[in-house]
Amino acid sequence: MQDGYGREIDYLRLSVTDLCNYRCVYCMGPEGVAKRSHADILSIEECVEIGRAAVACGVRKIRVTGGEPLVRRGILELCRGLREIPGLAELCLTTNGSRLEELAAPLRQAGVDRLNISLDTLRPERFSSLTRQGRLSDVLRGIAAVEEVGFQNLKLDTVLMGGFNDDEIGDFLRLTLDHPWEVRFIELMPIGPCTAWNPSRFLSTDMVLERFPTLRPLAAQGVARRYRLPGAKGAVGLISPMSHNFCGDCRRIRITADGRLKGCLHSREELPLRGLHGPELEAAIRHGILQKPPRHFLRERSSEAARDMYQIGG
Ligand code: GTP
Ligand code: 5AD
Ligand code: SF4
Repeated sequence: MQDGYGREIDYLRLSVTDLCNYRCVYCMGPEGVAKRSHADILSIEECVEIGRAAVACGVRKIRVTGGEPLVRRGILELCRGLREIPGLAELCLTTNGSRLEELAAPLRQAGVDRLNISLDTLRPERFSSLTRQGRLSDVLRGIAAVEEVGFQNLKLDTVLMGGFNDDEIGDFLRLTLDHPWEVRFIELMPIGPCTAWNPSRFLSTDMVLERFPTLRPLAAQGVARRYRLPGAKGAVGLISPMSHNFCGDCRRIRITADGRLKGCLHSREELPLRGLHGPELEAAIRHGILQKPPRHFLRERSSEAARDMYQIGG
């Protein structure tokens, strides 16, 4: 269905946990996330019920997010439940990749169509200091497993950070020469701990085009401008929420792990859905879609969301 500004809303990002096995420095403090009681988080049945109601309201694509969705107990059952919803065209999942070596095959069997993997650096020491707890080798083995079990259209998401990984742009681009992956550079958004960082850390993705003028434009897809290196098997995406606001083309709504609908990643407004069923639940989702704000205000000020990224799921 259309929101109040004529945007077709057909994409639901469903956060299934706010826990994560990493502690990425831009996302959370070293102590991680305070564990909430089980009852605070949507059950598998509730997630599927909300997914079904969203599809009844016109959603065609569901992306499972977190925190880290693969640390959620019952994640495979949850994916199977979502996949069975009639009318759902695509089931996707965004992960940090740490558990894919064991989970790639079962996720495929559960009916997940597509995976996006967050990967901010290709250097082992940097990876450990950025994530505080992760190992690059786990993710690389995870990517190999994803390829082996036959997932197509893999995307790698890299948040660009000045003085941290802007010297690795070439290394990431080179991955696309031999692999049919889309490597996407994402502008760091002022939400969570990175809000306090030095402005020099916040880079425009335009620098990728300035440094690599051989990149040739492809048709845009979703919120990403897309390019290709001559002769490359894969593609390059630029996601530029700060420098090129894409809110006018936004097709998403989000559900937090505790069951609140958000029209925008950066807005304060949340609509609680728990306890609603059937027509009531659908009516609440329709109401949420109609309340979706026209755009974010990140260039004027930091995110207004009352929560951090790991609680919303990106
Ligand atoms: P595709 O289905 O493959 O197009 O994936 P996607 O880009 O929708 O999802 P993914 O989880 O890979 O998101 C990529 C990045 O975009 C995330 O890491 C966030 O940083 C950012 N992002 C996702 N949704 C939004 C949004 O609605 N607004 C803004 N400003 N950034 C977003
Ligand atoms: N700005 C941009 N992207 C972010 N992510 C987390 N925090 C931010 C931020 N402040 C990304 C993660 C992951 C995705 C789910 O969100 O790196 O790719
Ligand atoms: Fe849409 Fe909000 Fe994302 Fe902008 S920031 S693209 S309005 S969800």
